[in-house]
Amino acid sequence: MTTKTQARVALVTGGTAGLGLALTRALAADGWHVITNGRHEGRIKEADFPDNVRALVGDVTDDVHRGALVNAVWERGRLDLLVHNASTLGPLPMRPLGEATIADLQEVWRTNIGAPLLLTGELLPWLRAGESTILSISSDAAVNHYETWGLYGASKAALDHVTLTFAAETGVTAYAVDPGDMRTQMHQDAFPGEDISDRPLPETVVPHLLRLLERRPQSGRYRAGDF
Ligand SMILES: NC(=O)c1ccc[n+]([C@@H]2O[C@H](COP(=O)([O-])OP(=O)(O)OC[C@H]3O[C@@H](n4cnc5c(N)ncnc54)[C@H](OP(=O)(O)O)[C@@H]3O)[C@@H](O)[C@H]2O)c1
Repeated sequence: MTTKTQARVALVTGGTAGLGLALTRALAADGWHVITNGRHEGRIKEADFPDNVRALVGDVTDDVHRGALVNAVWERGRLDLLVHNASTLGPLPMRPLGEATIADLQEVWRTNIGAPLLLTGELLPWLRAGESTILSISSDAAVNHYETWGLYGASKAALDHVTLTFAAETGVTAYAVDPGDMRTQMHQDAFPGEDISDRPLPETVVPHLLRLLERRPQSGRYRAGDF
């Protein structure tokens, strides 16, 4: 049964750690109803979310799980914000493009482009032109070229393209946003053994994302730090 709600509704993929967790907490604290997910149930339990967060265990690349996310939106009866945040660097340690296998490509493409593309398509009936927002978390690696970051960077460039094509096709405002370096597990995985304590915590990036959402510039690619 659909529960028509006054509260704004966000779906944030990968909301159990790092930037997704920080954003989920901030939106929930601001009164949003947040639907989120992650593959590990333990992280969801650890997050100890408030009642206005619905966290589902599952993988964004899984069709049945995406169906459950879409159903959770349907139950709320609206979708104001769709955040594509869940992402993978691909096989670790990261390696040069010449060493990429088809399995590596499939993993990175399915997670970083396939899932956001299909999930957006599945949620189009709920995304209102001029009102709802699609926010895809990109990277500076989408536009810069770093050794060993090729697979991930190309996938983020494609994510930007997919995100902004949805904006062109539907009139739904969409952003591809580079959050900048953050002290998270993903960042540590990219720099194994390195001290990353000088990188800002993801909680410091959230206010920039919220300002972007509030100001609602035209659809495009942005850096979080510019807001
Ligand atoms: N950290 C940085 O310096 C940095 C820089 C530029 C861009 N970014 C981008 O910022 C975003 C957030 O990164 P982060 O550093 O916060 O990552 P993170 O700390 O590794 O957190 C990733 C979150 O996504 C979930 N997740 C990963 N794969 C998933 C899947 N297939 N299905 C469902 N959930 C999944 C993880 O939970 P489970 O593992 O339990 O599934 C976790 O909750 C990503 O898009 C990343 O590419 C990060």
